[in-house]
Order: sequence, then C-alpha cells, then structure tokens
Amino acid sequence: MTTSELAQRSLGQRALLGAKRRIMRAMGPWGVFLQGFIEHPVMVGSIIPSSRFTIRKMLAPVNWETCKLFVEYGPGVGTFCRPVLEKLRRDGQLIVIDTNPLYIDYLKATISDSRFVPVLGSAADVESIVRANGHDHADYVLSGLPFSTLPDGIGPEIAAATYRVLRPGGAFLVYQFSAKARDFMAKHFKHIDAGFEALNVLPCKLFWGWKD
Ligand SMILES: C[S@@+](CC[C@H](N)C(=O)[O-])C[C@H]1O[C@@H](n2cnc3c(N)ncnc32)[C@H](O)[C@@H]1O
Repeated sequence: MTTSELAQRSLGQRALLGAKRRIMRAMGPWGVFLQGFIEHPVMVGSIIPSSRFTIRKMLAPVNWETCKLFVEYGPGVGTFCRPVLEKLRRDGQLIVIDTNPLYIDYLKATISDSRFVPVLGSAADVESIVRANGHDHADYVLSGLPFSTLPDGIGPEIAAATYRVLRPGGAFLVYQFSAKARDFMAKHFKHIDAGFEALNVLPCKLFWGWKD
C-alpha cells in the first residue's frame, strides 16, 4: 500500500470514529445502554442504568480522603463514573473495566478527565490491569456485574482476584438484583455489610466486603 493510500485510510478511520462518537452522543446514555443490553443481555443483565439512590447508598461508606485508586467493574455508560470522579481526590485514579467495546467507546467519547482510565477487558484480569497502570493495590473496587448470569466459574474467579488486589482496609462494593454475589464474596471477605435499595429498577441488594 502506498503512503497516500495509507494516509487516506487513516483519514477514513478518523472520520468513521468521529461519526461514531456523534451518533453515540445523540443516542444518549440510555440509548447506548439499551443497545448494549440488546446485543449482550446475559453480560449486561439490566435494561436501564442504576438509580441515583443506589449510587448514593453504595458509595456512602467510601473514605474519599484516603482513596487513591478506585476500580469499577462493568461501568456500562458511566452511571457511577461521574459521581466517583466528583468525589475522588485530584491525584486519585479511577480505572473502569468492561468487556463491551460499545460502552468503553462511549465512555472514552463522553468523559474527559485525566484521572479516568477506561479499559476494555475482563474484571477477572484486574490484578494485571492495576499493575499496568502503576499501582500495587486498589483502595476500593465497585462491581455492577450481573454475577448470577455470568458464565460458570467467572464469578468466583473475580471475587478471588478482587480480594487479592485490595489493600488491607479496602472494600469490595457490590450491587446486584440477587444475593448470588454474596456467596462468592463470603469465601474471602469475613466482614460483609449488607443493604437494600428499593428505588432502583429492579430493587437491588448492596454488599460491602471489607478486607481485614
Ligand atoms: C448491569 S450492567 C452495569 C451498569 C452500570 N454499572 C450501572 O450501574 O448502571 C453490567 C456491566 O457489566 C459488564 N460486564 C459483564 N461481564 C464483565 C466482566 N467479566 N468484566 C467486566 N465487565 C463485565 C457488562 O458489559 C455491563 O456493562
């Protein structure tokens, strides 16, 4: 391929990316979220994002002053990302990990914050992702993963990796429609606080697993 053909191709790719971003912005977060659910219902597990009540309750026990690294699994269209970034200290970092390229592209197109690191990948690989971004441990890990519908073995693997990646005193924050996640968490976390949020579609269970 000649240099001018290569240049034309990269121009074409940039134009395509620009068009994709404009379409995503026009669809809005709910449209993008629904599209992700239609394409991958088992992996997404919900048709609309979490409510502001769930977000407030889930994040309430976080000590933002000491939090340098916050990790989120399954950010979707960023429902939690914006509130986390509002509270996160200026030298903190938020790493979000999602298996769906549609959501990761949407987050890259709509959130510009130097503390924000969207990663296309699986939560099961959290340890290598955290290390690749220059950290030994995470202070908090938040999960919106649909544990009850994930492929066999993935839930326990993610719970074990999360326990290892957290610093002592850190916490695994989990919200889910069923209590399945608690079974996986209980193998590693001795101290688990539980809560409930009715003002969410569907009402959901909340868990905070504290690492000793
Ligand atoms: C219920 S949605 C969570 C949406 C969002 N956090 C909210 O509160 O509105 C679940 C998300 O988990 C993602 N997901 C599923 N399996 C995953 C995995 N193994 N690692 C990372 N993300 C995953 C899906 O792509 C989807 O974005």
